[in-house]
Amino acid sequence: MSRYSRITGTGSYLPPHKLTNADLVAQLGAKGIETSDDWIVERSGIHARHFAAEGVFSSDLALEAAKNALQAANRTAQDIDLIIVATSTPDMVFPSTACILQGKLGAAGGAAFDVQAVCSGFVYALTVADALIKSGTARCALVVGAEIFSRILDFNDRSTCVLFGDGAGAVVLEASDTPGILSSDLHADGKHVDLLCVPGHVSGGAVSGLPLLQMAGQSVFKLAVGVLESAARAVLEKAGKTEADIDWLVPHQANIRIMQSTAKKLKLSMDKVIVTVGQHGNTSAASIPLALDHGVRSGQILPGQTLLLEGVGGGFTWGAVLLDF
Ligand code: ACO
Repeated sequence: MSRYSRITGTGSYLPPHKLTNADLVAQLGAKGIETSDDWIVERSGIHARHFAAEGVFSSDLALEAAKNALQAANRTAQDIDLIIVATSTPDMVFPSTACILQGKLGAAGGAAFDVQAVCSGFVYALTVADALIKSGTARCALVVGAEIFSRILDFNDRSTCVLFGDGAGAVVLEASDTPGILSSDLHADGKHVDLLCVPGHVSGGAVSGLPLLQMAGQSVFKLAVGVLESAARAVLEKAGKTEADIDWLVPHQANIRIMQSTAKKLKLSMDKVIVTVGQHGNTSAASIPLALDHGVRSGQILPGQTLLLEGVGGGFTWGAVLLDF
């Protein structure tokens, strides 16, 4: 009998402090940095973002999302034998945020590690968990995307600081006799490291280099649109499906214009795209599971439907996962 992996529960969490565009415009304006609600909405589709309070870490957001996913899957932390956290904003240099989350959940014993693929982190993590389940190494995995990007934003750079937010999303992925995850496609191109990076590093007890996000927005935009289409086509081909089989596109929530462009290339109407960027901005690795959980809890995504998840981000990394929900 073939062994597959299947999502059995989803969860998400946004920290309570919400900043609307008007709030952020006022805060930046007080520092002499000019921006506007119109510019942010027109260029990105973002209306608001959530920022974590001081002393709150990615593992805290991950914990809340994980608890919601476990409850939805009717599982407890003791059932989990694998935790993968996708994050670019870990609590510490080490140990991994996954280990910290495991400790907070009280789920000792299984494997736990982080995946670092920036905004593609969740599709990378889901693909790794799927492979570990299919190989028989794990049976019940918690796959989480959790980020506190507000701590790595340069609030003197209006072209980036208005775009990102904090949050977490999670799924429980379990071994199953029926698929589940149908196909995955992961890529990276390291020659584009400088397009989107946080170049700082820890050295000799101090941070060396700028520990704040730098992005060449237009170049990222152009690359993103092309690779998202190719990853989508690759997972469809691997699974023997076509665009017509997609019930929902659940894309990385970076920018509404990137999502519109991908949908157009795949001949999907925007009614088939889960869009949450407006309410939480770009939450990097958290954005796909946040959107997925929103789609499930709002009653849009239904059991048995076919979903295309896809992400793109720093590295440059990109990838997609096609699955039956
Ligand atoms: N408010 C007002 N004006 C602004 C702002 C702002 N917040 N930011 C930039 N501008 C100005 C610029 O200075 C420029 O002015 P100029 O024409 O006088 O020089 C003008 O707006 C246009 O700037 P562009 O950078 O050309 O604007 P663009 O239409 O490209 O939109 C954006 C910028 C939103 C960043 C877009 O390029 C984009 O979405 N890129 C992709 C970003 C993305 O998806 N990143 C996530 C990848 S995932 C990850 O791994 C984190």
